[in-house]
Amino acid sequence: MIHLNNISVTFGKNTPLENSVFKDLNLEISQGEFVTVIGGNGAGKSTLMNVLSGDILVDSGKITLDRANVTNWPTYKRAKWISRVFQDPLLGSYADLTIEENLSLAFSRDKERTLKSSLEPGMRELFRENLAHIGIGLENRLGDKMGLLSGGQRQAVSLLMATLRPSKILLLDEHTAALDPKMERLILELTQKLISEKKLTALMITHCMAQALEYGTRTLVMHHGKIVHDLASDQRNKLQASDLVAFF
Ligand SMILES: Nc1ncnc2c1ncn2[C@@H]1O[C@H](COP(=O)(O)OP(=O)(O)OP(=O)(O)O)[C@@H](O)[C@H]1O
Ligand SMILES: [Mg+2]
Repeated sequence: MIHLNNISVTFGKNTPLENSVFKDLNLEISQGEFVTVIGGNGAGKSTLMNVLSGDILVDSGKITLDRANVTNWPTYKRAKWISRVFQDPLLGSYADLTIEENLSLAFSRDKERTLKSSLEPGMRELFRENLAHIGIGLENRLGDKMGLLSGGQRQAVSLLMATLRPSKILLLDEHTAALDPKMERLILELTQKLISEKKLTALMITHCMAQALEYGTRTLVMHHGKIVHDLASDQRNKLQASDLVAFF
């Protein structure tokens, strides 16, 4: 599903601040894998996601998604494959629009973007069902402004928005970092459920070692722009969270 071939990324090229983040990085991720990504600050985790989404274009190398060479494609062209949830609950949705309007926009993400055209009959029921499915009582609040929701509730809706349209790859950049432990657990369980139900290929960045091992099927450890450990299921099973800390 995802192939990175010898990709290189340098920020601030030919300036005193030149920073080579990736040099000939290779990575292959198969359809349906749920990969957790850990590594210290500045290791290149978010940059990896930006490279996949097209927010950062590589200086050299090749990116293949679902067999298409997307190396020079901008973000919007990759959006039919890729959806994302960020750390900040405020980033994934519009505070001044209702839950229903936000879901409508997400639903028409790969169509022409208008609010009017997407509020069609039947949609409300679809949204209600999807909200009921996540199980935190939002199905009766379709008309509430998004800004009224708690951070955790907003992340739940953001996740739903990211997975409402058929897409193939889900990128999660510390999407539970701003939540309290109870909400964090709930969002992680929901994440796992949506990934398996929708058969998504997913990457999840986390700073919590226990989470990195508990969720997903494979773990990447990044350090200074390199994947220093690539742990498959059987290897992960033998590790404790404290073993991971020792890796970086
Ligand atoms: N748009 C950018 N312009 C310049 N430098 C950047 C840009 N994005 C990232 N960097 C640099 O690339 C390096 C990797 O950053 P990145 O955000 O990928 O790290 P990270 O692993 O996500 O860290 P954190 O855990 O703190 O989120 C850092 O040195 C950062 O300063
Ligand atoms: Mg980051």
